[in-house]
Amino acid sequence: MPTYASKDELDFDLSQLPCLPAFDHVEMAAPDFFDVQYAINPHMLDASGALQRIDRKLAQQQWNSVREAIESAGVTVTVEPALADHPDFVFCANPWLPIPAEVTGEGPHCVPSRMASDERAGEVARWCESLADRGWKVAPLTGTAKCLEGTGDGLWHPRRQLLWAGIGSRTERGAWEELAERYGLHVVLLELQDPALYHLDTCLAPLDERTCLWSPSAFTSAGAALIEQLFEDAIAVSEPEAHESFVCNAFAPDAGGAARPVVLQKGAQRVVRELSERGFSPIEVETDEFLKAGGSVFCMKMAHPVRVDQ
Ligand code: ARG
Repeated sequence: MPTYASKDELDFDLSQLPCLPAFDHVEMAAPDFFDVQYAINPHMLDASGALQRIDRKLAQQQWNSVREAIESAGVTVTVEPALADHPDFVFCANPWLPIPAEVTGEGPHCVPSRMASDERAGEVARWCESLADRGWKVAPLTGTAKCLEGTGDGLWHPRRQLLWAGIGSRTERGAWEELAERYGLHVVLLELQDPALYHLDTCLAPLDERTCLWSPSAFTSAGAALIEQLFEDAIAVSEPEAHESFVCNAFAPDAGGAARPVVLQKGAQRVVRELSERGFSPIEVETDEFLKAGGSVFCMKMAHPVRVDQ
């Protein structure tokens, strides 16, 4: 299947693409060892250039509130025990990419990430073991792409077999080309150009089949045109909303019902209003301790459609 890097290349309508089920199961990783011990993105340093300092007790409370918000939306949360010496393990959206059974034609696949930094490389094996124990097939990349960071850069379009794919400091284009080919998947390529919005999930949040939040300045004009073409309602956020509140790191849990919850960092009043006007139910949570590491709600969880008892 070809990848799509510009609007002119699109040769399909979203409505023609095969469906995906609700991603009503969520993994989270316990935050016991969460900390900032190195800087691999600009958020991890304070204004004086020193590593951010984390209040571990507050971080645990904030993590609990994210979990409660997601559970209140009706999806199941499974918690992976913490991994010592891996202070970013809590950002479990990054070490692997789920490929649902509807796409593989067999069971669900886990594509292990090739993390861009040595500091996070050790997180991947833990997830592969845990998922293999639960019946997932681990299906590594075989090509030469140096990096791929899971659903930091690969976002499933809600309910459709389409992958939004970020290309930048964390994921190489070749990784997406290999996956498009392997799974016969429509993959839309978006180049990222703002170092502070270093993963696609920091500048694009698909909320439902027709709606997303996005930060236009993070994308090239080709990327912006693709987003505006494929989402009927692309809600633009300002640079401060994206940089300071990480609003594009929002998560819309899909429990399959009529409720339309969106869990997001507290304080983006304008965005909250825009969401409410459209019939979404914003749930604001405080993730300030995690913002200091460059992450918020979306990357503190991994959503997929597979029940644990399967
Ligand atoms: N410190 C982590 C890193 O830079 C934060 C990851 C946040 N994840 C995300 N998808 N935005 O890798």
